[in-house]
Amino acid sequence: MNEDTYTAVDAFVLSTLFADPDESLEAALADSDAAGLPQIQVTAPQARLLEILCRAVDARRILEFGTLGGYSTIAMARALPADGLLTTLEFDPDHAEVAWANIERAGLADMVDLRVGAALETLTLLASEGAGNFDFVFIDADKINTPAYFAWAVDRTRPGGLIFADNVVRGGGIVDPDGDDASAAQRTFHEYLAEESRVTATTIQTVGAKGYDGFTLAVVGE
Ligand SMILES: C[S@@+](CC[C@H](N)C(=O)[O-])C[C@H]1O[C@@H](n2cnc3c(N)ncnc32)[C@H](O)[C@@H]1O
Repeated sequence: MNEDTYTAVDAFVLSTLFADPDESLEAALADSDAAGLPQIQVTAPQARLLEILCRAVDARRILEFGTLGGYSTIAMARALPADGLLTTLEFDPDHAEVAWANIERAGLADMVDLRVGAALETLTLLASEGAGNFDFVFIDADKINTPAYFAWAVDRTRPGGLIFADNVVRGGGIVDPDGDDASAAQRTFHEYLAEESRVTATTIQTVGAKGYDGFTLAVVGE
């Protein structure tokens, strides 16, 4: 089995479970590409997993770290009820501009609060505004700060809520003692999770069209 096989299986899944056109997500991708954004968004199957998880917890409040062109934002926001809110944090104003146009076109602007700036700074502001009671948190920004984002979010996620951190395996970098800082941060993240008694967490390795990686999913204790 090799990467060609993973890619072929992804293509098969797309041709079966994703045969119906998804205009909002496809347009978001096309416009993100046209604007020159990096193609580092989740895949369509991963976006659907996020949507399914948001629906499973009846999410009304969602927090996202890392908007890029709004692809995952759209997938999650459409799981919200009409009075729901997704707060998404993006450092790069050019990414945010593209994302906002995509979110508006998807008809989700009323449900999305897009904050531009370094997430760690934005979190201070959100805390002062009393943000919290999140049902679902998606961590997908600068990977070195995944542990800090999780630690902030776990204090503000309701019992039974989920926290999903993407790209934690990093092609196996998580177990490479000579790996880069982002990989070392994922080891720190797991060491922290092992001591965090408020959550039950697991990490799942993934393969697919975007290579070998994985995610951590945690549920906050009741
Ligand atoms: C992997 S992309 C997000 C992809 C998006 N979640 C999706 O799947 O469609 C990571 C994004 O995080 C942003 N980012 C990087 N550092 C950040 C920071 N310190 N605060 C907020 N966003 C940051 C990047 O500009 C980039 O747009």
